Amino acid sequence: QFDGHHRVWLFGYGSLIFKPDFPFIERKPATISNWTRRFWQGSHDHRGTETAPGRVATLIAQPGAVTAGMAYLITPEVFAHLDHREKNGYLRLATDIRFEDGGSELGLVYIATEDNAAFLGEASERDIASQIARSHGPSGANRDYLLDLAQALRELGMEDAHVFEIERYLTEMRE
Ligand code: BEZ
Repeated sequence: QFDGHHRVWLFGYGSLIFKPDFPFIERKPATISNWTRRFWQGSHDHRGTETAPGRVATLIAQPGAVTAGMAYLITPEVFAHLDHREKNGYLRLATDIRFEDGGSELGLVYIATEDNAAFLGEASERDIASQIARSHGPSGANRDYLLDLAQALRELGMEDAHVFEIERYLTEMRE
């Protein structure tokens, strides 16, 4: 039961960075270690369809990697909403979250692992960009998801060679 004191940090590395559609108490730029952001998860229900899935971000285990994102302090009830929104293969994992302004705390992150049915796996950044360019779903164009994420990372001063390379292919394709 909720006694007014339960608080959980959630680490967001994808749409949660630019589209947090849930109430939060506080948010702070943060990183997690030993995971890297990759557009290797298929999206049947948000940025694509069952027959033409889009590609969205997941985290892939990689010792030594550091991934930047946004940590949200939320109440446990918010997870009920998020678990519904983030179906399509994502699981919650406990992880250490390091805040940019110092300190770290154990929190949660949603990841889609290779054993989920929607997982697509590795492809070149060029091929990922092509798939994203032609994918659309109930949440909108897959292109907008990638461009919005790249823009948010840039505004936060966060590096991500994979995301920025896909962004470059996408913007070239438009010309
Ligand atoms: C995220 O931004 O962290 C995220 C968004 C949707 C599904 C899983 C993770």
